[in-house]
Amino acid sequence: MMPQVWADWLAQQAANRERDGLTRRLSPRQVDDQTIDLASNDYLGLSTHPEVVAAAERAAHAWGTSARASRLVTGTTQLHIDLEVALAQLTGQPAALVFSSGYAANTGLIPAVADAETTVISDAHVHASLIDGCRLSRARVTVTPHGDVAAVEDALARASEARKIVLTESIFSVLGDAAPLPQLAEICQRHDAVLVVDEAHGLGVRGDGGGLVKEFGLNGHPNVILTATLSKSLGAQGGAVLAPAALLDHLVNTSRAFIFDTGLTPPAAAAALRATQLLEPSLARRLQERRDDLAERLGVTRPAGAVVSVPMPSPQDALAAQADCLAAGVKVGCFRPPSVPDGVSRLRVTVNAGMDDNVWALACTSIEKAVATHR
Ligand SMILES: Cc1ncc(COP(=O)(O)O)c(C=O)c1O
Repeated sequence: MMPQVWADWLAQQAANRERDGLTRRLSPRQVDDQTIDLASNDYLGLSTHPEVVAAAERAAHAWGTSARASRLVTGTTQLHIDLEVALAQLTGQPAALVFSSGYAANTGLIPAVADAETTVISDAHVHASLIDGCRLSRARVTVTPHGDVAAVEDALARASEARKIVLTESIFSVLGDAAPLPQLAEICQRHDAVLVVDEAHGLGVRGDGGGLVKEFGLNGHPNVILTATLSKSLGAQGGAVLAPAALLDHLVNTSRAFIFDTGLTPPAAAAALRATQLLEPSLARRLQERRDDLAERLGVTRPAGAVVSVPMPSPQDALAAQADCLAAGVKVGCFRPPSVPDGVSRLRVTVNAGMDDNVWALACTSIEKAVATHR
């Protein structure tokens, strides 16, 4: 039993969440669940690809289920190094450093490079892990309106700090839109700033699988570094920073989320490595075709990434459409205020390129019907 003061506080917090409609609950998936999952981020269906699964299985037998220690102690295996080489090659970046998650990569990178002599300029829609990285740093942080290049340039021009960093995602996770990367890279170059691009939702989806930065030919750009997660298109687990070796050496020596964390598990590293070898341009193309077709059928803007965002008239309509989809055997996401940056409730449908054609067609028909009923 907790001390009374804690029990009272927890009960009050829970009551507040309930009152505001913000209570979150875990609903475990069962192993025999037949629901078509279009709410996950397994964009290419690689998390269940037989070769990815087999690679993870082999790695568990060869290396064990755990990395056993921090990467700096005994937690770096040859698999980690092979994965880093493959990720650098995939994205066209000079080198890669693997973390145990995308969250750890972002919260490990920013405080390691941003101190009191640094200004960080962050797009208003960046992921919580980048925001938390800023909070852990001692940098001065300016948040600019979403996608507003002029505001970024203005903040860069005003900054008196010696080092400047601009943060963005390549494809934003909730609205599914793309960042103006060429313009951001250009102004960063003019202001001697570093552009950090989180490719979580671009990797595997854009640039024939190598990401949006590569599609724009900005890979290897002196002012551009990347972070990525291995848990979305690559169907595994883990994260990475992709940057010149000197920066990665700095992280190995100073990044707390790298140093004080057990290395990525060998099965996850092996799964991600195998997934990088399966990323054919045809897979990214199938994803784009399915996405464009679904967006057209739902009458919404064609998204830049793999997430089709469907604005709904109200939170209730969004919930009702989501429930109809589920009743038809299709799980889609539903975002409502306050977790939508523009206040518009929406369904969030993630496209899956790995899914069988018939299953995909069935799912699309159910979603189309549910949206038509509630919009
Ligand atoms: C943009 C972005 N960055 C980072 C992350 C964190 O990645 P991970 O799930 O590997 O910790 C996510 C995950 O949702 C994300 O959407």
